[in-house]
Amino acid sequence: MNKYNTMVIVGAQWGDEGKGKMTDVFAQTSDVVARFAGGDNAGHVINFNGKKYKVTIVPSGIFNPKTINVIGNGCVVNLENLVSEFEAIKNSGEKIGKLLISDRAHLIFPYHSEIDAAQEDARGEFKIGTTKKGIGPAYQDRVSRMGLRVGDVALPNFKEKLKANVAYQNKFLKAMFNKEPIDFETVYKNTMAAYEKIKSQVIDCGLFLESAIKEGKNVLFEGAQGALLDIDHGTYPFVTSSNCSANNVSLGTGISQRWITNIVGVVKAYCTRVGTGAFPTELKNEIGDQIREVGHEYGSNTGRPRRIGWLDLVALKYAIRISDLDEIFITLLDVLTGFDTLKVCTHYTLNGKELTSVPATNEEYEKCVPVYMDLPGWKEDITQVKSLHELPQNAKNYLEMISKICEVPIAGFSVGPDRKQTVLYENKFNK
Ligand code: GDP
Ligand code: IMO
Ligand code: MG
Repeated sequence: MNKYNTMVIVGAQWGDEGKGKMTDVFAQTSDVVARFAGGDNAGHVINFNGKKYKVTIVPSGIFNPKTINVIGNGCVVNLENLVSEFEAIKNSGEKIGKLLISDRAHLIFPYHSEIDAAQEDARGEFKIGTTKKGIGPAYQDRVSRMGLRVGDVALPNFKEKLKANVAYQNKFLKAMFNKEPIDFETVYKNTMAAYEKIKSQVIDCGLFLESAIKEGKNVLFEGAQGALLDIDHGTYPFVTSSNCSANNVSLGTGISQRWITNIVGVVKAYCTRVGTGAFPTELKNEIGDQIREVGHEYGSNTGRPRRIGWLDLVALKYAIRISDLDEIFITLLDVLTGFDTLKVCTHYTLNGKELTSVPATNEEYEKCVPVYMDLPGWKEDITQVKSLHELPQNAKNYLEMISKICEVPIAGFSVGPDRKQTVLYENKFNK
């Protein structure tokens, strides 16, 4: 057994790998579930007892009434959206856990979303395809030290600070994009009304998590987005604005990295990507369309059709390295049922030379040609499979090949969206 009982779940591709589902599964044996990055650009879908829920900023452990769910300081929080999401969850009739919010998390205001949308329009053909939730502009304010944090709202000078920020951003919106000004009084009123509803849930996240870990509680960290969308290590500039790999757990929650154990990457059995940016294994054909329909690959947040590609082991190995993954968990394996042949990308060629890692620039990445290995598919319905040995041999071979090429153990696999459609070889997290 590990000294500390912590676990990290992160996306190992371009997001939407099934982190919400896996966090919900592991949350059934967690005392605490903490988000450490991103905002309501995330869309995490959870299915149980025939019901389907989506969370964007509330951690995916919320449906275990015994968990305490924490929004870490590394997240950016739109208070109004947080309150309406949490109220909808409270009104769902489900028994739910507690929700706490870091006093150091930065706030997203309506001007951030306006700027996000205006910047996207201005980028024209170079648009990133953001969720327009104001994520980039909010993180930008954090770095430029004009951001306002959850803990600032209670201060006597908050109104003054917010007024100055609204005035500044209105000038920017007018000068750069000829946009109408945002009304300060409305922003202030809505912020205070939302804050009033959650103020008793605001905590010092690092202090809280450190004592939970030291008390031997099961603490699960939930990532958002995926390694290839990481601001530093992802496919820049077609990335999100936070570090969404596992390296950011300690900074994004305020605990020492020495407490972090069991880093599990969630990996879709194929690849998807929403938004712009190079995608070497993309399938712009009927195979891609079939996977999109069978896998319901439409953004849970924005409804956009996801781009589909064969499993890319170069990108996966890169994610394993930058997130230092101990294990990977394969999701949506059922979606690959029915193909005669499955392809997996083992390396790229760039200008005629073999490449085994992800290049730094999008320009080079666009030119990478995937080199595939063919594997025989399987036809049997696997959606009710409960153990590895029940899988068709070719599905087992598919998993084994991933593990072998990536030199990483597989923690289990998922054969459908429901909490129960999960095969976990060993729950190391469950004390
Ligand atoms: P996240 O952002 O990583 O939490 O992933 P999303 O929730 O955005 O997207 C994953 C989608 O796949 C959701 O609709 C899940 O309900 C669904 N899903 C998760 N695991 C499986 C699986 O094993 N099979 C199938 N068919 N769907 C799954
Ligand atoms: P989850 O947690 C997939 C993508 C957007 C865009 C880029 C930047 O559900 O896996 P942003 O709004 O963050 O500035 O957009 O990142 N993106 C995601 N793609 N899943 C997500 O979250 C994403 N969050 C952001 O589509 O390409
Ligand atoms: Mg998602």
